[in-house]
Amino acid sequence: MSDSTGFTRREGVLYAEGVALPTIAASVGTPVYVYSANTIRARYRRLEDAFAGVPHHIHFAMKANSNLSVLRLLQELGAGVDIVSGGELYRANEAGFGGGDVVFSGVGKTARELDLALEHRVLLINIESEAELYALNAVAQKRGVVAGVAIRVNPEVTVDTPHEYISTGQKGAKFGIPVDDVARIASIIDELPQVKLLGLGMHLGSQIATVDPMRDALPRLLAAIETVRAQGHSLLFMDVGGGLSVPYEGEADADVEGYARVVSEAVMETGLELLLEPGRFLVAESGVLLTEVLYRKHAAGKDFVVTDAGMNDLMRPMLYSAYHHIEAVVAEESTVKADVVGPVCESGDFFAKGRILGDVSAGALLAIQTTGAYGYAMASNYNSRPRPAEVLVDGDRFAVITERERFEDLVRLERAHLQWRSA
Ligand code: LLP
Repeated sequence: MSDSTGFTRREGVLYAEGVALPTIAASVGTPVYVYSANTIRARYRRLEDAFAGVPHHIHFAMKANSNLSVLRLLQELGAGVDIVSGGELYRANEAGFGGGDVVFSGVGKTARELDLALEHRVLLINIESEAELYALNAVAQKRGVVAGVAIRVNPEVTVDTPHEYISTGQKGAKFGIPVDDVARIASIIDELPQVKLLGLGMHLGSQIATVDPMRDALPRLLAAIETVRAQGHSLLFMDVGGGLSVPYEGEADADVEGYARVVSEAVMETGLELLLEPGRFLVAESGVLLTEVLYRKHAAGKDFVVTDAGMNDLMRPMLYSAYHHIEAVVAEESTVKADVVGPVCESGDFFAKGRILGDVSAGALLAIQTTGAYGYAMASNYNSRPRPAEVLVDGDRFAVITERERFEDLVRLERAHLQWRSA
């Protein structure tokens, strides 16, 4: 973890800021996601400072963590949001973001979602296909408004991410409009009365460890900006998406300042306002998943640590073979090499394999780290497991920001008395 983390040890016990994690487990139960408010603040400020030299606005990619309290915290810091669904727009609105704080991304927005976006007067809708453009024009026509759009450009560069599922800016990806097609799309926008081109953007992928892909992609974006300007479009925004990496496995922290230098230089050339869409960078390190050890098990010459959290609570190890550091909350004197596994009936339900960690017994607590991004946000009810609680720590206080789901919640939308409809 980088030095901005709010998790430290005092006399062998892991704390979130001023609160001992066992205190939270005792009061809220496990599994529970615990977030450090001051870590989020520190990450936000670091990004703000790095971009202080250019007009910019940070739009938190709320898919990473869409909890209302986390959103409110970022809203208070001055952030906007990057949304990808009507549900996220609803949450953003509930958290106090105005339409002008919202950038709407995504490859498959429905007519209803586009209409909601117009109703809320979002700042920008990122267009990802010609067909979407026509759909938006039609929706805007019905409302009698003009929709401000940006073209999401696929710069078609090589993007090295830890897993292919989180790379987006390469040739053949479903995202964005191929850079060679941007001029044609811009001229269509010209002909459509209810849409206006306000910017060009891109998003290269996630957990990108070096500045290289950005360095490769920016000239392509700049060239596209020049092309559409030559067509007569007067732009306001240049959006470089998200993707800044965080250290999961003791790697170096992202070179935010180097990244900011490269991006700022490019945006200064254009005179446009810069939009950033970081998700993971702002929240990943703010969170741990706190889980209790249910059993120790020895089988086939291996040690297992069975936890009360499962893949439904944290999907990343199963989905992307992602590494998350795991620590005993109360330090143990000896260590064990074990598979840390959940209770879900899937072989893929593990958090780590052959991992060295404290030699914990049943009842001990583990902290699965760097889980503030794409943790709870991707949790499910698989195996009919209620989703965990979420807690926010701020200094020496903590509050439940999401209640643990109850069994009743699992069946709340299911119907026992069926109302058949005829064919
Ligand atoms: N902007 C757009 C248009 C995006 O699609 C994304 C993420 C972001 C911004 C924020 O990217 P970030 O700064 O968080 O890297 N579930 C995966 C990550 C998927 C990212 C999808 N798009 C994971 O757990 O690694």
